[in-house]
Amino acid sequence: MSDGPTDAELVETARDALADAYVPYSEYRVGAALVTADGTVYTGCNIENANYSNSLHAEEVAIAAAVKDAHASFDRIAVSSGVRDGVTPCGMCRQTLAEFCDDDFVVLCDEGDAVTRYTLGELLPNTISLDTLDAAERVDRE
Ligand code: THU
Ligand code: ZN
Repeated sequence: MSDGPTDAELVETARDALADAYVPYSEYRVGAALVTADGTVYTGCNIENANYSNSLHAEEVAIAAAVKDAHASFDRIAVSSGVRDGVTPCGMCRQTLAEFCDDDFVVLCDEGDAVTRYTLGELLPNTISLDTLDAAERVDRE
């Protein structure tokens, strides 16, 4: 467990990150606050693009910022939307988190007056991972 912020503090930090969201297309702001194993907090927000598919999700922006600083072990993430609807990470973000986080990694989802606490294992069971590929029989293409 990290010496980082409380769950409530982390959700507040995710809410703060909403202010930086660039969402001219969906107008749906998402903020994320990710805690590393040593208690450091990285934030992210969604950053949309006119071609839509290049849009970055809040969770991937947060994890990219942390990994580029050489963090490889994580404790918790809080996710909030501008409408406090308890948004959960999408399938793509669950898989991105699973690259670096164990099944017991905690995902906090902001419902305004409540916070739902999931584990990544609940949100994405049986993920594909480096172990999966290592265990797979490789096809020799030569
Ligand atoms: N969004 C995120 O930032 N994270 C998610 O995991 C769910 C979706 C963003 C993408 C897009 O900018 C907006 O929310 C609407 O889908
Ligand atoms: Zn996503």
